[in-house]
Amino acid sequence: MKTKILSMLRKQETYVSGQEMCKELGVSRTAVWKCMNQLKEEGYTIEAISNKGYRLVESPDTLTSYEILSRLEKSMFEDVLFFEKIDSTNNKAKELGNQLDRRQLIIVADAQTAGRGRRGRTWQSPKGTDIFMSFKLHPAIAPQHASRITLVAALAVVSAIETVTGLEAKIKWPNDIIVNGHKVCGILTEMSSEPDFIHHVVVGIGINVNTETFPEEIANIATSLYHESKQTVNRATLLVEVVAEFERFYEQFLKTEDLSMLVDEYNGYLVHKGKEIRVISGREETIGMTQGIDHEGSLLVMMEDGVTRPVISGEVSIRGISSYV
Ligand code: BTN
Repeated sequence: MKTKILSMLRKQETYVSGQEMCKELGVSRTAVWKCMNQLKEEGYTIEAISNKGYRLVESPDTLTSYEILSRLEKSMFEDVLFFEKIDSTNNKAKELGNQLDRRQLIIVADAQTAGRGRRGRTWQSPKGTDIFMSFKLHPAIAPQHASRITLVAALAVVSAIETVTGLEAKIKWPNDIIVNGHKVCGILTEMSSEPDFIHHVVVGIGINVNTETFPEEIANIATSLYHESKQTVNRATLLVEVVAEFERFYEQFLKTEDLSMLVDEYNGYLVHKGKEIRVISGREETIGMTQGIDHEGSLLVMMEDGVTRPVISGEVSIRGISSYV
């Protein structure tokens, strides 16, 4: 009922009458009034004027499922599951996937107690300031193409950050998002599959939105949108924009199972394009000039022998400079 009420209030800029709500929701006036009071207690500012009805003036910075669902128009996701605190949204998505739940879902948390990053790192996940979410997907594509979805997600995040905050955001291949040389977002994609069938793909996205300070060990690398823009960002606004952008790019990706339709856009955001870089991949080190990604998502590097070769995975950094970018 909260989702429906908030959607109705959001659709109309003017007042929505109590009667209209009762009719649409098929409930009594008292039920609507009770729900309004609960929303007010949760921090929503709702103006109520007799003979006119209700008007939503301001929403709190929360990521509840009704806050998000009421902002999502039409979506490929069947539901949004919100947790005040959870070990990891990726763990939850995987657990549901393993229980043979085939719904495409968004799992969101206000805090994580065991947030995970790539290569076994932890992802600091404090309460109430950032975005921690996972998409549970069931693409009917070849398992070896699934890792490309990470690049699709990176494109969605970078584009959403620019739209919502006006900040210039870049992608550090394959999937870190950078603002002013520091990391604001990381993406962790995990899959359960058989050789020719995907059970589920989980795309976990962590965005440092309003965090003010970082632990010492990542203080040189990390930043937040708040830190860079000096303005707090409404998390639900950003989250919904990421979802909308992801759906748009993912639809294109599914048509070809590769990035051919997204290469130009992705390369336009690439922080290292045209720069001398070093890619460390396991024990191998590659040095050369990046030209961007190809349709498979590999990084094309023109090496010192003048030949351009695709690099499939690795950590990229600018040659000769010891900084995160
Ligand atoms: C990275 O190392 O850059 C990837 C970080 C991914 C963090 C997100 S937060 C939501 C989801 N749940 C997790 O435990 N990890 C991902």
